[in-house]
Amino acid sequence: MSGKIPRQFIDELLVRVDIVDIIDSHVPLKKTGSNYTARCPFHNEKSPSFNVNRNKQFYHCFGCGAGGNVISFLMEFNHLSFVETIEELATVAGVEIPYENQTGYEPEAKNKLVELQEIMAQIATFYVQQLKKHPQKQIAVEYLKNRGITGVIARDFIIGYAPDGWQILSPHFKNTELLCEAGMLAFKNDMYYDRFRQRIMFPIRNKRGHVIGFGGRVLDDSQQPKYLNSPETPLFHKSNEVYGLYELLKKNSKPARILIVEGYMDVVTLAQFGIDYSVAALGTNLTATQLQLLFRSTSEVILCFDGDTAGQNAAWKAMDAVFSVLNDNRQVRVLILPSPHDPDSLLREEGTQAFLQRIDNAEMVSSYFFNQFMATLNLDSIEGRAKLAGQAKPFLLKLAEGFFKNMMLAKLTELTHFDVAPEIEKEIALPPKNQPKERNVRHSIERLTLALLVQNPQLATKLEAVPIDWQTLDFPKIDVFKAIVQKICTEKPTSTAQFLEHYRNLPEEKMLNALASLPIFIPDDGIEAEFIGALKRLISQGQKNRLDKLQLKATQNELSDIEKEVLIQLVRQQ
Ligand code: UTP
Ligand code: MN
Repeated sequence: MSGKIPRQFIDELLVRVDIVDIIDSHVPLKKTGSNYTARCPFHNEKSPSFNVNRNKQFYHCFGCGAGGNVISFLMEFNHLSFVETIEELATVAGVEIPYENQTGYEPEAKNKLVELQEIMAQIATFYVQQLKKHPQKQIAVEYLKNRGITGVIARDFIIGYAPDGWQILSPHFKNTELLCEAGMLAFKNDMYYDRFRQRIMFPIRNKRGHVIGFGGRVLDDSQQPKYLNSPETPLFHKSNEVYGLYELLKKNSKPARILIVEGYMDVVTLAQFGIDYSVAALGTNLTATQLQLLFRSTSEVILCFDGDTAGQNAAWKAMDAVFSVLNDNRQVRVLILPSPHDPDSLLREEGTQAFLQRIDNAEMVSSYFFNQFMATLNLDSIEGRAKLAGQAKPFLLKLAEGFFKNMMLAKLTELTHFDVAPEIEKEIALPPKNQPKERNVRHSIERLTLALLVQNPQLATKLEAVPIDWQTLDFPKIDVFKAIVQKICTEKPTSTAQFLEHYRNLPEEKMLNALASLPIFIPDDGIEAEFIGALKRLISQGQKNRLDKLQLKATQNELSDIEKEVLIQLVRQQ
């Protein structure tokens, strides 16, 4: 990677590639009307609500709300960074990236994410060095020894040591702002200081091997909190990542199964005992995104929880995510360890063979699921069976269509002595709650105007026909509206996708994505008329608001000279 990629090149790239071709090569699309559709690759669903629009060069899922341009799609789908995505697109388009320092634009600032990745990698190396060189290294080395961590495993997981001190990183890494953005410094009382002090450091790597965050464990169990994790940063989103996946895939890129455990130490110890196919959720409830990530590399996931109450609760809580990603090709099993053990302590007590035996005997999720109800409900009574049907239903509704779902329904029918399938099918036939119904949606006029403009940026030329005098207007969010209109007029983007790209990682990004995917049911040849009509209504409504406000102010004698002029102008126009 060598320098910043010029904005203009990215704009051009978005013109060269076609989102329909590119998505189609990942998720086969079907043409339906002016859109292309598929079952959404980002959540499980029965009927396709994933839409790709060639004119806008934009995709949107009405089911889960995912959406964006081709860059967003590739980043999401392939778990690539922004720069990696641009590199991939450049290859597809057959063009070279003119990095700015090569063509003599601006030799500074590389892409922010790359800068963050680089500093995180350097910090991981730095912490490993501290484990070897720091004057107080002995206490950390002893700790790892006592926990039975070998040098080989420490190296595989690049385990390090954050020394005891408030200002360890800054003198080495100089760029305080970057350290802060990377989540390595905290700020308090006008001072930056190291977030991780006197801790064993577990670097968290993404699938591609970049260090994106850290978990740090205290050396002395009386200190709190026992584990400290990196905060959310542009690189690190805790609920989308798992610990140990990179290390696992390095050993075996297509493991038959992946074990999800609770702790960093568990992953490390399992690997040390030869069970090198485990990962840890990062101290959060297991999410569907984490499971999807794993199911891209394996077809079986085993959820392994500690036997304490917290572990049992966590296992049950995971069912939400599990049911939303399960299908006929994927298998989930649940392994609850005898209390008070976790994988680390149990392995050390009973050894690898006994633990493997437990993995082999782990319970199928179908049986775990129904057993949970059977433990608490009295299925001899109608009341108990009705409760079972009611409580199981929301989970079964999440399942993808297929044999597994049908068999789960059959099992529920057997347990309740009642044919539950028609009830559940009825629910599925209803449109999902967040799916817009064509007729009932009414957008505010400013939202509609803006959405039309964002979805059809070529309409900007029409703004000349209906000039806007901003001084005479007032409506909600007028500043945002004005900024967007002005940006479209100056940038003249050729597609929605290109326009949105200017807002990647900016505060407005979310709102603009929402506008880009706002369903507006207007035939193509009516869009221009609709836009001009909406704009005129917006202007007259905006003028009325402004007039009302100014008149009120006038009665209180508080008008400035400019306001007086505007008022006269508005009254004349009435
Ligand atoms: P545990 O408390 O079970 O830790 O937390 P552990 O992995 O067995 O750790 P050791 O054996 O005492 O070293 C399980 C996981 O929950 C998260 C961490 O990800 C940890 O690995 N956790 C725990 C935190 O994030 N913060 C905490 O204070 C404790
Ligand atoms: Mn433990």
